Amino acid sequence: MVLNKFREWLEAPAAEVGDRGGKLNVLRGAVARVTTPLLPDDYLHLANPLWSARELRGRIVEVQKETADSATLVIKPGWGFDFKYRPGQYIGIGILIDGRWNWRSYSLTCPPDWTGEGGKRLISIAVKAMPEGKLSSHLVNGVAAGTIVRLAAPQGGFVLPEPPPAKVLFLTAGSGITPVMSMLRTMDRRDGVTDVVHVHSAPTDADVMFGAELRDLHDRHPSFVSHLQLTDSHGLFSLDSLDELYPDWRERETWACGPAGMLDAIEQHWKSAGVADKLHIERFEVERSAVGEGGTVTFGTTGRTLTVDGATSLLEAGESVGVQLPFGCRMGICQTCVVTLSAGHARDLRNGDERQPGDKVQTCISAAAGDCTLDI
Ligand code: FES
Repeated sequence: MVLNKFREWLEAPAAEVGDRGGKLNVLRGAVARVTTPLLPDDYLHLANPLWSARELRGRIVEVQKETADSATLVIKPGWGFDFKYRPGQYIGIGILIDGRWNWRSYSLTCPPDWTGEGGKRLISIAVKAMPEGKLSSHLVNGVAAGTIVRLAAPQGGFVLPEPPPAKVLFLTAGSGITPVMSMLRTMDRRDGVTDVVHVHSAPTDADVMFGAELRDLHDRHPSFVSHLQLTDSHGLFSLDSLDELYPDWRERETWACGPAGMLDAIEQHWKSAGVADKLHIERFEVERSAVGEGGTVTFGTTGRTLTVDGATSLLEAGESVGVQLPFGCRMGICQTCVVTLSAGHARDLRNGDERQPGDKVQTCISAAAGDCTLDI
């Protein structure tokens, strides 16, 4: 009991870095106690920017072009990163652009515990540049190897179980292939490619991310079918054609990731067939149907305020004035970002629902609807 209390006290300054730190966390915490009032970070950064006891960090070690508008980023994580993530999970990545930390979530594309050349433990994500996405364009076209990034721990429930199901169907389009790539690479690495059909849609052959690797997997594993649907020449993949092409699709455990319209259609199709329980869906896009009026947001305990338009999320608003708000997925799924609205009103950008004082708001998908105050 006393020992536990002492350990908690020791670890406290390093507690947020990782819940699996074990002995390392005790050590980090102890160093933090000894170096108080300055935290170890204040010294460690001088020696190595990846040595942070306060937050997860990483260094981009390589940027590999995938297609004209997408690239794989290989990252070496620093202290505290949990390499035991599950294939299909995503991480948050923060990059400093023009003096501001910009955060997004991206699926990991590597298998867990992936080691690169020289036995270094690395992770990879693949990013597709979006026309309106400043961060994604920067990551695909501008970021230099060596850049230090901030990381948020892997999470998400769109994962491949271990062992994988006997029959699998993957339905992906565009960058929706990224979490599935991690699953395929994991199966390949563990020599556990079961009976898998992967239908992937992209406009042209040149737009297919990981095209050569998909063909290679197809050639090496008789139990793996890579079905590429080039939509510019063949049109959209018709879900009705599944009956003819892969008549056992109802028996397959299915993972789908891609644009919202495609996922809605898949959801409907599986529901009508009475097999909705076999379907796993990952939505990358927040559908922002509503726009709030905007207003002045006050971050209660910090006293910071900012006037924003009705399309800026409260999370982004806070970050732009240096308020550290909790977050995970940044797309309305994980609920990590929930904060109490202590005054004024906010609007849920997905459906326009208004939140009242005292309500909990998900700051990543809510905007100010007039002046409001958050209890943080
Ligand atoms: S950060 Fe995941 S719901 Fe807001």
